[in-house]
Amino acid sequence: MIDFCGIELAHPIINASGTFDAVAARRAFGDALIEHFPFAAFVSKTVTVAPRQGNPPPRLWELPAGLMNSIGLPNKGLEGYLTEDLPRLAELPVPLIVNVMGFSRDEVAQLVTAFAQRDEVAALELNVSCPNVETGLVMGADPGEVARLMDAVRPLTHKPLIVKLTPNASDVAAVAIAAEREGASAVSLINTIRGMALHPRTKEPWLGGTTGGVSGPAVRAVALAQVRSVAEAVAIPVIGMGGVSHGGHAADLIAAGAALVAVGTESFRDPAAGARIAAELGAAAAAPHPLGRGLVGLSR
Ligand SMILES: Cc1cc2nc3c(=O)[nH]c(=O)nc-3n(C[C@H](O)[C@H](O)[C@H](O)COP(=O)(O)O)c2cc1C
Repeated sequence: MIDFCGIELAHPIINASGTFDAVAARRAFGDALIEHFPFAAFVSKTVTVAPRQGNPPPRLWELPAGLMNSIGLPNKGLEGYLTEDLPRLAELPVPLIVNVMGFSRDEVAQLVTAFAQRDEVAALELNVSCPNVETGLVMGADPGEVARLMDAVRPLTHKPLIVKLTPNASDVAAVAIAAEREGASAVSLINTIRGMALHPRTKEPWLGGTTGGVSGPAVRAVALAQVRSVAEAVAIPVIGMGGVSHGGHAADLIAAGAALVAVGTESFRDPAAGARIAAELGAAAAAPHPLGRGLVGLSR
């Protein structure tokens, strides 16, 4: 068992927000999902105060080594989540972490207050990759914005607050330090990296959202560097993610200072990726071959 901010987890592999729909997976796999849940905790997709349609299509662009999405955070909004999704997610056999995002400090405070009262929720992850409509600054790109946000929401709950950092910041470690100083329980990174694709013929932006977020193997080296620089800068636990598709990649992020590792894009290819990666990680740690390079050789 692993202790993460007072939450007991069976292993260090969790899902990355927005990349594993547990309600749809339950429909597809039935009770097998509950009996063999692939992750040690479940992180929900981002919930906002108001319902969102998401971005117009096309929403995906395949890259040679990953994916670019401009899904645009479609969700039922706070009320819809509380009445429709939360009861179903509470049936999962693992702790539930709810990921929330607001377009102002007041909105984030409203979300944190609502979930603070729900026993089904073990922790909250704050997605700060969006602009604050009051200042125009991307909340997670600026240490001052993150400090003011934490100052506003930290007193609202005793639950662990995980700040999900954006890689689209000039100094991610400075943002992590500000989050820690104002009471964040943990930080998670990386969110997707901003990118763009052009329609092959018209040369207009392909994605309905004009730009999108790059994820998958293409971002792994960036994730490793940012996780290491953040883990060296803060004492709170770090959740590392970005391009993890087997145990070797998880082992690398842990070596770089991550306490937990989240799996995102890989789950689209293999819904059982979380369990497989946890097993690969455990097997290599339990019985490293004396002549081999352990999982290092697999991590390319
Ligand atoms: C299709 C898709 C949807 C995502 N939705 C969310 C989301 O709702 N909230 C969030 O914080 N991150 C979201 N992410 C970012 C992931 O949680 C993760 O930070 C990122 O994809 C890097 O991990 P990966 O390379 O393993 O996918 C999304 C990523 C993808 C690919």
